[in-house]
Amino acid sequence: MHKYSKKVMMPPPKIAASILAADFRYLSEEVKKAERGGADMIHFDVMDGHFVPNISFGPMVVKALRSEVELPFLVHLMVERPEDMVEQTVDAGADQIIFHVEASPHSWRILDSIKKRGVKTGIALNPATPLSTIEYLLDFVDMILIMTVNPGFGGQKFILKMYDKIRDLRRLLIEKDLNLDVAVDGGVDFENVEKIVDSGANVIIAGTTIFGQEDVEAATKNLKNIVNEAYRKRVFTQL
Ligand code: DX5
Ligand code: ZN
Repeated sequence: MHKYSKKVMMPPPKIAASILAADFRYLSEEVKKAERGGADMIHFDVMDGHFVPNISFGPMVVKALRSEVELPFLVHLMVERPEDMVEQTVDAGADQIIFHVEASPHSWRILDSIKKRGVKTGIALNPATPLSTIEYLLDFVDMILIMTVNPGFGGQKFILKMYDKIRDLRRLLIEKDLNLDVAVDGGVDFENVEKIVDSGANVIIAGTTIFGQEDVEAATKNLKNIVNEAYRKRVFTQL
């Protein structure tokens, strides 16, 4: 084994296109463009107007798009009582369900209820929430999502302090010998994504940078190329 292999352990990079920034008149066309551009997943932001100060859409939209593309669906529940939405979200066709650690005192039970339905799991943390809140869950989850803006809206500015949080999380995972997906959500753009990957994130969720561009397919390709290159370059970077 290479002497740095433990230090650089990190799953392959993936791009998740967040439909929040898409043109909702043509959602099906929009997700197909992202798929053609090489997106690895479609990201859905379900917002209830309580956990976050905005309402977006629910599982019906997930269900409506399920037959339109083959990509895995990553559903981000920004809702209070996420446990009440697991079943519906699974039935709508989610491949992975992410809920917020701040939204329920029963993270463990929610993880179990997602897993027993054969769906992958993820836990999201708001920018101010410390990593210690999920430390004892790391063995039982497939992905940790670091919010790099305050959740609720697309098109916000990446909070620079979050580079440290991404790096601290990847370090913690390496220490524990866990090769988990670390996702970053909010304010990702063509300029900052290299540093985001270099800090230890491998799932890049982007809304405006994909769907807010004139040519969605080209933007997806462009972002993917930058991410792949950053991942390749960071192979010998020590965390
Ligand atoms: C924010 C959502 C994000 C959002 C990101 O609350 O969780 O998924 O779509 O949008 P951009 O990439 O535009 O910041
Ligand atoms: Zn999201």
